[in-house]
Amino acid sequence: MKVTISVIKADVGSLAGHVKPSQKLMEAVENYVKNNSKGLIIDCNISSTGDDIAILCTHQQGTLNERIHKLAWDAFLAGTDVAKSQGLYGAGQDLLKDSFSGNIKGMGPAVAEMEFEERPNEPFLFFAADKTDPGAYNLPLYLGFADPMHNSGLILSPSMNKGFKYTIMDVNYIEADRVVELNSPEELYDIAALLRDQERFVVESIHSRNNGEQAVSVSTTRLHNIAGKYTGKDDPIMLVRVQGAFPATGEILSPFNIGQFVAGFMRGSHTGPLMPVKRFSTISFFDGPPIVTCTGFCVHEGILTEPVDCFDHPYWDQVRAKISEKATDIRRQGFIGAAMLPFSELEYGGIVDKLNKIDNKFKIRK
Ligand code: 13P
Ligand code: 13P
Ligand code: MG
Ligand code: MG
Repeated sequence: MKVTISVIKADVGSLAGHVKPSQKLMEAVENYVKNNSKGLIIDCNISSTGDDIAILCTHQQGTLNERIHKLAWDAFLAGTDVAKSQGLYGAGQDLLKDSFSGNIKGMGPAVAEMEFEERPNEPFLFFAADKTDPGAYNLPLYLGFADPMHNSGLILSPSMNKGFKYTIMDVNYIEADRVVELNSPEELYDIAALLRDQERFVVESIHSRNNGEQAVSVSTTRLHNIAGKYTGKDDPIMLVRVQGAFPATGEILSPFNIGQFVAGFMRGSHTGPLMPVKRFSTISFFDGPPIVTCTGFCVHEGILTEPVDCFDHPYWDQVRAKISEKATDIRRQGFIGAAMLPFSELEYGGIVDKLNKIDNKFKIRK
């Protein structure tokens, strides 16, 4: 059976700053979806990561479907009403347009979708990150799909012996989608050359070269490109199908033990290590550190199993402790050098005005 998995995620208000949505807000979103999706979706799971709410649903309407996107948009509007009624911070933060116009892409919420013919067994992972942007997935996807140091199946499994095709988007190009397709392993160094620049080049999808099937879909929106100014970080989501012709779950999780430095953290303007955390985690130290959750499911005829929390395991406790130390270390240098993002990436407009004013005071010595 052909099934579509759609995840649509937004921040429509949070407790105590940018920490976590309220229980009432979560319920409002969930109830809206439950009460307005009869005959449209097959199954659904609602979760939060930091201050972002993700609606994951299965259906047979294909990707970029107007009714599915409108369902999510309206659910987030219902949530916004509750957020306003509770005085939550940033009510409606990611709903950047006044009215729905056919496709939620480019309107603020993040979208990751995949349509495929279900395998007899169909395990997949859903990642959600908060206080960072879509380039945060570049390194884990490079290592998980192209490096046998993490993906042992590239050596051990004949079903991955042809490698993978990466579709990479230039997110600085805002008039339309600007993408390039590159094959690993032959073009590995070209892939690496692009992915090193995580603010500009972002993995959008990955396909198996053994069977042509799609393995990965990443949300690639950059909010500041839509709003023209800072309204929040992009807080990317990602779907990854695993096992068989795709990497094993543990191979995909493996690179998340690095705690690589990503853009985001406080005011979306700093560098911090990406910490794998349990589902429904909050945000804390310096509005961070940037976090990522991973929820595993299997799906059969569109029906989801219960979720499994992939970073809820003793192994990740020591990883988190190490990453906390990295976060403390980089915070010790405050606003200097690598700790704060370069001027081109600074999300808060205020500093631009400030620097322009100071610029006028400069004098050239004769
Ligand atoms: P969010 O993008 O998660 O809303 O965070 C914004 C922010 O400014 C955190 O300091
Ligand atoms: P099982 O033998 O438990 O199915 O595991 C196979 C596998 O791929 C582990 O990575
Ligand atoms: Mg927020
Ligand atoms: Mg957020």
